[in-house]
Amino acid sequence: MQTAEIRRRWLDFFQERGHTVVPSASLVSEDPSLLFTVAGMVPFIPYLTGVVPAPYPRATSVQKCIRTLDIDEVGKTTRHGTFFQMNGNFSFGDYFKEGAIGYAWELLTTSEADGGLGFDEDRLWVTVYQDDQEAYDLWRKLGVSASRIQHRGKADNYWHTGQPGPGGPCSEIYFDRGPSYGVEGGPEADEDRYIEIWNLVFMQYLLTEVRGKTDFTIGGELPRRNIDTGMGLERVAFLKQGVDNLYEIDQVRPVLDRAAEISGRAYGADHEQDVRMRVVADHVRSALMLMSDGVVPGNEGRGYILRRLMRRTVRAMRLMGVDAPTFPELFAASRDAMKSAYPEVDTNWERLSRIAVGEEETFLRTLSGGTTILDVAVGKTKESGASQLPGDTAFLLHDTYGFPIDLTLEMAEENGLTVDRGAFDRLMAEQRGRAKADSKAKKKAIADLTVYSAFRAQGETAFTGYEYLQTETTVLGILRDGASVTSAKAGETVEIILAETSLYPESGGQEADAGSILGTGFELEVHDVQRPVKGLISHRVLVRSGEVGVGDAATTVVDPVWRKGATQAHSATHLIHAALRQVLGPDAHQAGSYNKAGYMRLDFNWNKALSPETRSEIENIANDAIQQDFQVVTRVVPLDEAKAMGAMALFGEKYGETVRMVDIGGPWSRELCAGTHVGSSAEVGLINLVGESSIGSTNRRIESLVGPDAFRDFATERAIVAQLTSDLKAPRDQITDRIADLMANLKAAEKRIAEFEMQALSARVPALLETAATIGSHRVVAESLGSVRSADELRSLALSVRERLGGDAVVALAGDVDGKPAVIVTTTPAARDAGVAAGPLAKTAAGVLGGGGGGKPDIAQGGGSNPAAIPAALDAIVAALRG
Ligand code: ALA
Repeated sequence: MQTAEIRRRWLDFFQERGHTVVPSASLVSEDPSLLFTVAGMVPFIPYLTGVVPAPYPRATSVQKCIRTLDIDEVGKTTRHGTFFQMNGNFSFGDYFKEGAIGYAWELLTTSEADGGLGFDEDRLWVTVYQDDQEAYDLWRKLGVSASRIQHRGKADNYWHTGQPGPGGPCSEIYFDRGPSYGVEGGPEADEDRYIEIWNLVFMQYLLTEVRGKTDFTIGGELPRRNIDTGMGLERVAFLKQGVDNLYEIDQVRPVLDRAAEISGRAYGADHEQDVRMRVVADHVRSALMLMSDGVVPGNEGRGYILRRLMRRTVRAMRLMGVDAPTFPELFAASRDAMKSAYPEVDTNWERLSRIAVGEEETFLRTLSGGTTILDVAVGKTKESGASQLPGDTAFLLHDTYGFPIDLTLEMAEENGLTVDRGAFDRLMAEQRGRAKADSKAKKKAIADLTVYSAFRAQGETAFTGYEYLQTETTVLGILRDGASVTSAKAGETVEIILAETSLYPESGGQEADAGSILGTGFELEVHDVQRPVKGLISHRVLVRSGEVGVGDAATTVVDPVWRKGATQAHSATHLIHAALRQVLGPDAHQAGSYNKAGYMRLDFNWNKALSPETRSEIENIANDAIQQDFQVVTRVVPLDEAKAMGAMALFGEKYGETVRMVDIGGPWSRELCAGTHVGSSAEVGLINLVGESSIGSTNRRIESLVGPDAFRDFATERAIVAQLTSDLKAPRDQITDRIADLMANLKAAEKRIAEFEMQALSARVPALLETAATIGSHRVVAESLGSVRSADELRSLALSVRERLGGDAVVALAGDVDGKPAVIVTTTPAARDAGVAAGPLAKTAAGVLGGGGGGKPDIAQGGGSNPAAIPAALDAIVAALRG
């Protein structure tokens, strides 16, 4: 049974039983506490907790999931995948244990011919939570033998996401693969032989703190009892396809085969190589699906996980002996295996493959850089007689060269060394601490989500800011350090929840509004506005004066100058985005953006620098759109309609049934966007593209100044130009020529100065010749020239003097070069025949000067640190010649 067939049977079964079929959400989790969608229930969390009323009582989905906690198990066991699909059926306050257990049993045991999954009842086992008698009785009622029901504790039969939120006891269904896969005794004894296929969670509690899998605090009951189940699609597929593990199912195997082919190895011949092929097959698929949901490789968060998957793939291929790039082939194989279930991996192929190939190229480059660093460190460690590579080397390799620690461990081991893992872990922990502090600061003291959920349950905060800058409203809540309080006094910083607000909360790249909240007897200065849970807006404020209390009437006031700047910047972002795509093509996808009054930046998927001409073209098109004075029209329309009209939607963004579509000049620019915009493009005023840079191997960033700030930047440049025209005495259009002339003149002048200096130097030769003294058979000149420009000057002068003296002669000239003494000693052939060598003499002089020296017998140089010792140094040369 193909994976697609299992999926179809699942959805049909539950649809026929009153469940609404909900399409898979993005792998990028919408829940702020989770990086990825780790289970089928993640998109439904607000319905499970009751924060948002569920639009349907029952739902079913086949949800894309990512879990990387067990990344080291991948390939080694039969059942761990970083990407997998979870088939789920959900009840939001509708059916409970009996319904969930009944449906599961029915679907699993109905024969294939009758549309079920056709599992043999006698090979199914179930587990229930330790004291869940109700679940036990329900299974018994269906005819499951008591000998195949096991009671297990919290570690196995209690489920939560790992973050505060909904949770509850669960009951799991296992399939017995038979004695050749392990020992008797049910799941309790062997989870490889008894494979878990379906988990039924009885979601009925709200967990307020989660410290570990079994260490959590139950805050209370959820408003209603829910059902959340998850059946591993890949696990059922490998059982139904009669293969040994999930890497061999139809959606994964083709990549494994490709890896085998590229490396010239047979799958099944060698356990270690098999594990590597499975790692490749798993990771390539996960990476493909992550990219398809808009994640790009990076150094933190989601991007880092993606990067790690890709780098582990490169490493696995290298360990199989393949050093050349393999991503083009491996990813294409995964695309072909996945495209029938997820057509977007095919339609977006060009973008996906560009990102993958770019990342592989980058890593192969850093791999060779890192290997050099590692080799040097290995050499040093061995030289010092140690057997352990320092932790900071491993950290450097990780941080700068992107080496996963296991790669460093392995490469060290190949060289007979271990790694100081303790020091490495400490450095990593320090870095994580920094990152955490950073992200905490960014989240700006957002309190525990449960507090917000309680407010959200009372209704949405209405946003009036599209039409009004001021709104009269009521204070619904005040949060101090995350706890709900009744009032706040002057000097305190608290969060305020209101019934309505005209203040824009940071979202869609647009910075939060600045402004104030005023009431009788109090004045609040707004520092930040966020949407901590969907539908709820929270204002972080400083109480400037008076005292504010829950229930007080209040007026939100947006700073009009700030808002005007914000709308200009946001509309400018859309204009730049549209211009970018006109110039680069539809492949240039927005990966992120940020805008605030006067400034915008836009990150987009592109892997090479833009030429100055391309930059100007983009800037011109955007400014041209301003000139055209396009109308800006916002409409709320059904998502399908907006897409059909060609609106640009963002990757990884989850849109509701209806969306807000912002048109600038009709279809000239059409984006889904919740931001605030100008009324017509002319109001943007001016866009001044000030920067274009790389962020990572696959993204570029464009930065612009907008409106008055764009003008001010031009004005600054104009002032500089005015200064130049006056200083250079040339009109503006001749400045560059004038500077080129000046540079040429300067060069010519420098050349002439050098010639003059040479002449001046030569002029000193006769005077030096006159100082020649006779020492033994030699004519000797040993003189100080005072301050000189360079040792080269000394050298050429010494050679001139030597030539003029001829015969048996020794010349020693010293000078002060920028405060440092230098001495040149040179000898004629006759002097050398008479036993005088320049080298030792230079060395003698250098000794006196406080430095070192040496050279050949015919010419040598010495230096030092003390120019005052020059006369003594020359004396030392003379003394040496005297013998
Ligand atoms: N949410 C449950 C799980 O992931 C079904 O196992």
